[in-house]
Amino acid sequence: MSAPNKSYDPVEVETLKPEEIERMRDEALAAFAAAGSLDALHEAKVAHTGPASPLALANREIGALPPHAKAEAGKRVGMARGGVNKALAARQAELEAERDARVLVEEDVDVTLPYDRVRSGARHPLTTLSERIEDIFVAMGYEVAEGPQVEAEWFNFDALNIGPDHPARGEADTFFVQTASGGGSAVREGGTESGVVLRTHTSPVQIRSLLERELPVYVICPGRVYRTDELDATHTPVFHQVELLAVDEGLTMADLKGTLDHMVQSLFGEGMKTRLRPNFFPFTEPSAEMDMLCYVCKGESVGNPDRPCRTCSSEGWIELGGCGMVNPRVLTACGVDPEKYSGFAFGFGIERMLMFRHNVEDMRDMVEGDVRFTRPFGMEI
Ligand code: DAH
Repeated sequence: MSAPNKSYDPVEVETLKPEEIERMRDEALAAFAAAGSLDALHEAKVAHTGPASPLALANREIGALPPHAKAEAGKRVGMARGGVNKALAARQAELEAERDARVLVEEDVDVTLPYDRVRSGARHPLTTLSERIEDIFVAMGYEVAEGPQVEAEWFNFDALNIGPDHPARGEADTFFVQTASGGGSAVREGGTESGVVLRTHTSPVQIRSLLERELPVYVICPGRVYRTDELDATHTPVFHQVELLAVDEGLTMADLKGTLDHMVQSLFGEGMKTRLRPNFFPFTEPSAEMDMLCYVCKGESVGNPDRPCRTCSSEGWIELGGCGMVNPRVLTACGVDPEKYSGFAFGFGIERMLMFRHNVEDMRDMVEGDVRFTRPFGMEI
């Protein structure tokens, strides 16, 4: 191995000449200055400070120099690299500051702008009122019972002691369902071959409940019902009812009356009460029409021309629905011994209840789906 060449002069090594080193440094500084983005600066950094950069290669040459020449060359290259690194850091800081300023502008959020007011939906007031009624009875130990809307005539009529000649079985009120096969049963008076109808009331759920449940039975049955009515301010062919049935030992009309009073007080406030007027329903005996005290005038408009009441037409009472003691024939049809058990029942329309509870004047508003109607009811749950 030959000894180091003592006369070797770093100036003579091409890449270590002062002008060369200066040129490399200047090129690096120019590249950094020219870099318009952080990406471009990164490229320039790799090119001018990376392991393959001219200054790194020049630095490597130093190792091969004789000892006495190393110091000077090292100083020269070191100073150049120091200058390059400093310029790089400065440009890096400059470009980062520019980017940060730009991001602040570009991603600026004006928190004072109005947000997109997407209204969250709410349940229909008929649903919330129905659930409110259910809750009153669930709190007393009743269970919620449901039945099908497409119902067998037997449940909708026969078992409820509504004979084939009853007007409610005529075409006037009932939607009869034609089954695809044409039905298997024989044609019956006032019925169809299929024996299937859209239920005209929630009373068939009384029958289903008695057949399905152990006695005693205490159920509240809300649901949709159908009648062949034209849609107008006070009628709709699809509407909702709530049915109640209690069958136990020793139930009397007093239990019915107390239950009704409790319901109207829960819905309309203290001081409310109901009154019963004789009526006829095939499935109750005795039967009654139930009225509740007018919740607006509390009856004070009666015989008081100075204080007329629009809600009850100054009658003092508002008709709510039908009720009565369950007809023993209904109990018998369901296999319940009427000697041992008695029961009471009632049923009324939820649309009507919503009308006078919330001063809705036109039933069509409830079915048309216009949010301007439902919105004022808010998010009532
Ligand atoms: N189902 C009857 C109707 O739709 C209402 C009714 C009357 C229900 C008397 C009852 C009741 O439970 O006892 O007109």
